[in-house]
Amino acid sequence: MTTPTKTLWQERYRDDHQQERLISNPVIEQILAHRSVRAYSDQPLPEGWLETLLATAQSAATSSNLQVWSLLVVEDPARKERLSKIARQAHVARAPAILVWLADFSRIQQQATKRGAELPALDYFDSALIGSVDAALAAQNAALAAESLGLGTVYLGSLRNDLQATVDELQLPPLVFPVFGMAIGYPDPDKPAAIKPRLPQAVILHRETYQPHPQQDELISAFDQRLGEFYQEQKINVSDWSGHVIERLQDIDAGGTARSQIGPVIRRQGYPMR
Ligand SMILES: Cc1cc2nc3c(=O)[nH]c(=O)nc-3n(C[C@H](O)[C@H](O)[C@H](O)COP(=O)(O)O)c2cc1C
Repeated sequence: MTTPTKTLWQERYRDDHQQERLISNPVIEQILAHRSVRAYSDQPLPEGWLETLLATAQSAATSSNLQVWSLLVVEDPARKERLSKIARQAHVARAPAILVWLADFSRIQQQATKRGAELPALDYFDSALIGSVDAALAAQNAALAAESLGLGTVYLGSLRNDLQATVDELQLPPLVFPVFGMAIGYPDPDKPAAIKPRLPQAVILHRETYQPHPQQDELISAFDQRLGEFYQEQKINVSDWSGHVIERLQDIDAGGTARSQIGPVIRRQGYPMR
């Protein structure tokens, strides 16, 4: 392991467990260095950024080669402002561009209609899942490629705070729905983002069958403390990870959002999700 990789490992886990056997190369270091960026400089995106990132996104694996996702890019300041209201995040309006990753069976439906074919498989939950997974894999390729160019990104699940409003704003046709957005821009050097620690590998990894680690509870408690310290350093008002995730999952429509309506909106877009 090279020194940068050791440092990145340390920042990612912040525990005493030294990993000597981690394989290292520039791609792995790039991935380990990920952090979400919510503050951008005024520097415009480089020429060719969209075509480059789209090519990396399209290079991701896609279920059965269906390619059932699309990318919608928003750069218009007024539209970004409206999206930032849906997301309830001011930085969304300040990012140079917002990428909206869409699940999209409309192209396939069009081909089927042309051939007089029916697509009953679209009625099942699996199709919404396939479109969402495809979109997520594509987006993550683009996010890593962006980071390799010195750009920063943050996913915006918050565009689902009011999914119908996002669908309307983007004028999405049947069989198209937003999986999430992604803000992109050069990071503001005055507000650098830090690497956020993750759970220890011992609680994530299972071998052969699902067997929670015998010390899972202690391991998570120790992680709660480490993340509490991280949040304190970052001046973020969250005490610990477990408390944060429990609170997040206690109220689907927290703060007056409409996330409980995501299922109905996706159904209205033409996915019965049986
Ligand atoms: C699908 C998805 C949706 C997300 N939605 C939001 C969001 O709406 N707003 C936000 O600020 N961060 C959002 N994030 C970023 C996460 O909060 C972030 O990835 C997580 O806290 C870990 O931090 P890191 O990415 O800096 O390592 C989202 C991440 C994912 C994967």
